[in-house]
Amino acid sequence: MKLLILSLCIIANLSYNGKASLESFMPTKNNMILADTTKGSDKSCSRPCKFNVKPRRCTYDFEITPLIEENGRPTLTVNTLTPGPPIQVCLHDIVIVKVKNKVPNQDVSVHWHGVEQKGTPFMDGVPMITQCPIAYGSIYEYAFIASSPGTYFYHADSVAHQSDGVYGSFVVGQPQPSEPHSSLYDYDRSEDHTLIVGAKFDDLLTGRLEDVSRIRPDNLVVNGEETDTKIFVMQGYGYRLRFINAIALECPLLISVERHPMTIVASDASPVQPVIADAVRLYPGERMDVVVRTDQESGGYWVRVSGEGVCDGLSAHAMLLYSGFNYTNMLEQGPALETESSYETVVFGQQLRSLREASHVANKKSVYLSIDKHSSKFKDADIDFSYRSDAMAKKPFFPAVLSSEEKVLQINGKNFLYPNTPYLLKPRDVPPSIMCDIGKEDEHKEPQCLQILKLQTNEVIELVLANEGFNTNDSYTFHMHGKKMEVIATWQNPSSTPISKADIDKLLKDDSITRNDKNPPIKDTVFVPNKGITIVRYTPIFGGSWLLECRSCSTLLPVAILISVPISIPKLVIDALPSCGNYRPADTLLN
Ligand SMILES: *[C@@H]1O[C@H](CO)[C@@H](O)[C@H](O)[C@H]1NC(C)=O
Ligand SMILES: *[C@@H]1O[C@H](CO)[C@@H](O)[C@H](O)[C@H]1NC(C)=O
Repeated sequence: MKLLILSLCIIANLSYNGKASLESFMPTKNNMILADTTKGSDKSCSRPCKFNVKPRRCTYDFEITPLIEENGRPTLTVNTLTPGPPIQVCLHDIVIVKVKNKVPNQDVSVHWHGVEQKGTPFMDGVPMITQCPIAYGSIYEYAFIASSPGTYFYHADSVAHQSDGVYGSFVVGQPQPSEPHSSLYDYDRSEDHTLIVGAKFDDLLTGRLEDVSRIRPDNLVVNGEETDTKIFVMQGYGYRLRFINAIALECPLLISVERHPMTIVASDASPVQPVIADAVRLYPGERMDVVVRTDQESGGYWVRVSGEGVCDGLSAHAMLLYSGFNYTNMLEQGPALETESSYETVVFGQQLRSLREASHVANKKSVYLSIDKHSSKFKDADIDFSYRSDAMAKKPFFPAVLSSEEKVLQINGKNFLYPNTPYLLKPRDVPPSIMCDIGKEDEHKEPQCLQILKLQTNEVIELVLANEGFNTNDSYTFHMHGKKMEVIATWQNPSSTPISKADIDKLLKDDSITRNDKNPPIKDTVFVPNKGITIVRYTPIFGGSWLLECRSCSTLLPVAILISVPISIPKLVIDALPSCGNYRPADTLLN
């Protein structure tokens, strides 16, 4: 069996001619563009996807290491790269990623953002929920099936590690005739036309003791570059571009292509009814696929990415370059200093309509989640840093932010508490005393608990995410692990006054909130406007332990709930997975 796989890879490598065609577009030989950005990956998996061929096993070796960049800035990398190697596979391929942690004194894990992990919930990458964190020197082997086509990305589960550079694109292709919108474009070159946006900070966020979620980055980068990423196109065709907001802070991004309107075809890896926009807005963790027609005068055009929220005032650019255009001057001049931008149509994912009609739901339970800041008395002991997903030194001094009277963001008046053993694998080892049921948090006296919503398979619920806004003016973005959500409504109080559960109940009863029950967009990442609500429908069709988390809310006191859907993981699997903190080789063994 092994031999067979090996020979398959060799054959595939021989026939791989990936980026050779790019050379013809370039006015000068630029080694940077031709640099191998897929170090450590099985390139044979990046290929045109065809019908009736066997899926492949795509293996990647990832080493997460700290590195000092040329400009002296420290960063975390995957195989010395940030963003990490792009992964491109075809539908049904088996993806195997061996992640080795070479960051001293840190535990890491990698989350496959948007990947549903049906049957492999222990590959979701959330420490102390779905796995033990990967200790320094250890390896965790992620393996799952690329079961759904679209644009995804991977990132370190810790906000700090992700912000420091551990993220990369992950695209699952399918045969072109299966793509619902393939008639709208001629080229879908995900290997060259995926733009993943990150942020750069002047120093590592890893290991910092304050809440890093509100730290303003220095600048934004597209595929790791501030202005140098190039998209080569030929005149007169339609191109599918894939945008990914890989920033872990509350940084919505506005993306536009100079003089090229975009047709949106997918949001969070789900096809949507096409909509034309001058600019698209992506909240942190969101992805959007758009089609751009190169019907302008042959030339070079700036793709502009501007930050909002914490990233307000920051921008990055890429270049859309028509073949034959000499872009030397464009490179030298750089993007023009922006005047006040005015786009006629700015579209974000929640406004879109799914291509597929939703099935009618008769009985559904509604669950209200109150999101707001509250004063809470935390003791040092309340924060056990030893099993936080954000890497911190163990049991440090009391963080300044909490010793002050500052209010902290909570769901139903509580912060999420990670257990000290992975809940999915060993639920009986998690003490009931740290758990609290959603809606019954009042019965729990500590400010933190493992907030849990237990659902049955195929049970339909509607979650009302209510950003009440009594004590905060911020909007927040939530990410659902496992199964995607149907976004039924997004509403912001026009009178800009805070909202309570009673207000919302009344509005819902009076049908005053516009719902889209017919074709709600299917998403894994949603924003919840301040003094507003986002209603999502969630139907678990397979088991697992899935976080619904706000990554951008706080890095000290997690804001999340755990959705638990019955599953029994075979003992064989549990025994085969690494147990917590069991293997830490000496530094000398690492190389
Ligand atoms: C591109 O333009 C630059 C500056 O105008 C010029 O020096 C260079 O020779 C041109 N390159 C080609 C291939 O025409
Ligand atoms: C929110 O904005 C309102 C109106 O500008 C202001 O009065 C209030 O103090 C703000 N609240 C917070 C928590 O910043």
